Amino acid sequence: MLSGVRTLGSARAQWVLRSSVTQYKVLLPRGARMQSSMSGAQRSDDIRVLGSSYNRDKWTNATPAILEKTGRDLLHHPSHPLAILKELIFKEFPTFAHYDNISPVVSTYQNFDSLGFSKDHPGRSVTDTYYINQNTLLRTHTSAHQLQLLAAGKKGDSELLALARNSSASPRNERFLVAADVYRRDEIDASHYPVFHQMEGVCTFSRAEIRKHIRDRDIAASTKSSTSENGSVAKLLDTTVIGDANPVQPEHLEEEAAFLADHMKQMMNNMVVQILTKAVAAQKSAGDADMAGSQTEFPVRWIDAFFPFTSPSWEMEVLFQGEWLEICGCGVMKQNILEDAGMTDRIGWAFGFGLERLAMLLFGIPDIRLFWSSDPRFTGQFAPGQITTFKPFSRHPACTKDVSFWLPESSEFHENDLMDMVREIAGDLVEGVKLIDSFTHPKTGKASRCYRINYCSMDRNVTNEEINAIQEQRQLNVLFQMKELIRRQNKMSIIEAINDPENSDAQDKMRLYILYMLVNKGLKQANRDECKAALRVVGCNLTALEHINQIDS
Ligand code: DAH
Repeated sequence: MLSGVRTLGSARAQWVLRSSVTQYKVLLPRGARMQSSMSGAQRSDDIRVLGSSYNRDKWTNATPAILEKTGRDLLHHPSHPLAILKELIFKEFPTFAHYDNISPVVSTYQNFDSLGFSKDHPGRSVTDTYYINQNTLLRTHTSAHQLQLLAAGKKGDSELLALARNSSASPRNERFLVAADVYRRDEIDASHYPVFHQMEGVCTFSRAEIRKHIRDRDIAASTKSSTSENGSVAKLLDTTVIGDANPVQPEHLEEEAAFLADHMKQMMNNMVVQILTKAVAAQKSAGDADMAGSQTEFPVRWIDAFFPFTSPSWEMEVLFQGEWLEICGCGVMKQNILEDAGMTDRIGWAFGFGLERLAMLLFGIPDIRLFWSSDPRFTGQFAPGQITTFKPFSRHPACTKDVSFWLPESSEFHENDLMDMVREIAGDLVEGVKLIDSFTHPKTGKASRCYRINYCSMDRNVTNEEINAIQEQRQLNVLFQMKELIRRQNKMSIIEAINDPENSDAQDKMRLYILYMLVNKGLKQANRDECKAALRVVGCNLTALEHINQIDS
């Protein structure tokens, strides 16, 4: 990441290059029934998402808190800032088909293989992605629909094509936009949330069309001018050199790739200038002219990047209020995607960007959790088609608690497991989770972690009792998870830990003791009184134990 670049939410992994794919599966629209992986009657341990049932397997890691989000449909509330931004972007691409109603449940193939992700790509890991089962997951990006929508256009798949809101604009999906919710396991802070929204853009041309454009040198004629309604201009700062590290694909002529890049850049400049100009106007009318400095020019730069599904690839950045803001990833589509879709005579470009980052800037929204608030003091501030500056309502007092635990002696603990556990119990009350201490015992090599959890409600005061109850559940859930891990490991290690004179801290001893009982006797048989006493020492009550009991049964 370049210094000085604003990176709200941009810690998301960049996805690297690899080879091609063969097979194609169609995704069903949101709410439709999934038939493929279901056989016969629904089993009790099936997992249900948006009205459909899926088999669980050892990949299943989508939590109830996450599944609940699949039904929220923020993009369909016309006065929600994300929906307003979506509509503004759709308006900038009138000749593209507009999709905003495709189910987030996709196949592993669609999300990864169809785009050329290598089998060992880190994005596929269960610590990064929410799996429904091995072959089905919650899409991690809108690129998951590239091949599917191109193939639907080629084949004239009327069911999928009918999902476009403006089906006459590009009746065969030669050009399309997809706005959608996407899901990634992630840390917790003001700019990261495990669900966010992206906009994908795909634009293809027949090679004959491109030859004609090149002959006529009329790229500008095929896009709008990049001057906005009030005279703002995107100044290009284009230092891009197409070289070995970011090459033109062997299937493409240099001038074809150059045409696509120019066309893409102009379309995107137009869009960004239009939208940022509206943001400046909103700030001015909210009396924040200083902040925007009445910016009328928006320099744009294109940084070399790598994605498995484009080459050459770039990241677009725009200078907004003195900082380079990362807008999106983009590039010339890998030819094998078009070929797999049956489009052998077409080539194209694509982009994908996160809506939250831009919406936070446009509407002055300081915390990503606010997008999920149903507090009328938030939802009542916005109106369809308008960018207005968010007026903060009083911040509620924050409350901080620490949680510490020993790691299992394998490396199986992943921070994102803790993040999901925290969300599962406390939901949006959690503002942030930060590692504050990690310790490795010099003799035994045992490691412990301490995390500080910040609670703060967006819309009400949280009581200490409420947080304590949450905290109890969390302590015990941590133990519960450790138990799972240790069960697969060596039970003796806990006994050793209890007897280790270094673990003289009463809390640690008691935690380990509870753990021992859980592991050794099984929770149901564990001595309730002993458990109670131990729980009292670690500051939990029996309600929390009942909670584990439910998990265990
Ligand atoms: N899907 C990518 C991500 O989520 C973003 C992206 C990059 C989309 C390049 C594209 C593209 O269509 O061409 O990180």
